[in-house]
Amino acid sequence: MTDNPIFAVAARAEALRARGADVITLAAGEPQAATSAVVVEAAVAAVRDPVAHHYGPAQGDPALRALVAASLTDDTEAAWSADDVQIALGAKHALFLALQALVGAGDEVLVAAPGWPGHTEVVTAAGGIAVPVTADSEFRLSAEALDRCRTPRTRALILSSPGNPTGAVHPEPRLRQIADWAQRHGVWVISDDIYRAFDHTGTYRPILRVAPSLRDRTVVVGGVSKEHAMTGWRVGWLAAPPEIIAAARLHVSRTITHVPTVNQRAALAALDDHGTPAEAAQDYRRRRTMLVEALNRIDGIDCPLPDGGMFAFPDVSALLNDHGWSSGADLAAWLLDTAHVAVVPGEAFDAPGRIRLCFAVDDDTLITAIDRLRTALSPVPEADNQQLEEAR
Ligand SMILES: Cc1ncc(COP(=O)(O)O)c(C=O)c1O
Repeated sequence: MTDNPIFAVAARAEALRARGADVITLAAGEPQAATSAVVVEAAVAAVRDPVAHHYGPAQGDPALRALVAASLTDDTEAAWSADDVQIALGAKHALFLALQALVGAGDEVLVAAPGWPGHTEVVTAAGGIAVPVTADSEFRLSAEALDRCRTPRTRALILSSPGNPTGAVHPEPRLRQIADWAQRHGVWVISDDIYRAFDHTGTYRPILRVAPSLRDRTVVVGGVSKEHAMTGWRVGWLAAPPEIIAAARLHVSRTITHVPTVNQRAALAALDDHGTPAEAAQDYRRRRTMLVEALNRIDGIDCPLPDGGMFAFPDVSALLNDHGWSSGADLAAWLLDTAHVAVVPGEAFDAPGRIRLCFAVDDDTLITAIDRLRTALSPVPEADNQQLEEAR
């Protein structure tokens, strides 16, 4: 069994750093910013509260579940209650719980290609078979592509919009088409909405807002990791029909008992703070343009402007050809060693010929990384150098 390849890049960068190299990482799938002070203070208060020192409910803090439900009610324009929500140790655990509840040995689950390897991993962990569905040229799934991969064993589809690594947002007509297909064939939809706050074009819609009738076969997964820069706190959730929530609660109760109360209180404070995700989204939108424009000025790189999320996912195949590299992994290794910039090779996402770069880093980090990439990969025109200096 192999570890998540994204963590493997991060580990290599860390090892180089430990040897004294000044490594910049655009490899991590997380905001570089620290968690907001409001959230940290709420956690400190929770640490001091003896109630948080004892066992709590397996389903999660009712107040946190109520806030998640309220936010889903806003998003989907349909009523949700705290009973519809199970708190998990991050969105990844929520996906795991959903798949444990839905999938039996040999059941097939459709996942996007290119896509986040964690989706395949949770399907495999549940004894299922992850079936990659090739996305279109804009990295979106279509009913036709899904249908080509459908068999009598197809149990579910994992849909992530905005996606990782592609940033693709599925617009309303496409969601409707996918929802109709799922409804027609009795396929469950697991909607991984972890990047929903980072919608750079205003086109994000939750699938349940577009197709409310899909509710009895949809699991919505979310969390505070990305929106609130809280990847280390490990708080996420699933919202689903009662039988899925009951199975998830039982699994949590039999394994971890519940998500640590202090962390849930921190998440509660985060959900009350709407300013932080909005501000982060605005910063990411600006940095997205900065990074994509800089990448497109390098010969051999062709980078689409992602509609959402926090990653650029350029096609570097021409660059690979020019340099005689055989894969994105060769390029990523070379960039790490030569420019001390960590990026994730496309192979990690079933997309050789591409690399993933995260723009959820601060301006200085991004500007320095761009500078290094340009110096390593192309002769730098004087005018561009000046522009970068001015941006500093
Ligand atoms: C698409 C997607 N879903 C879920 C996760 C996991 O989120 P969490 O840290 O809340 O487990 C990630 C993390 O990179 C992701 O990219």
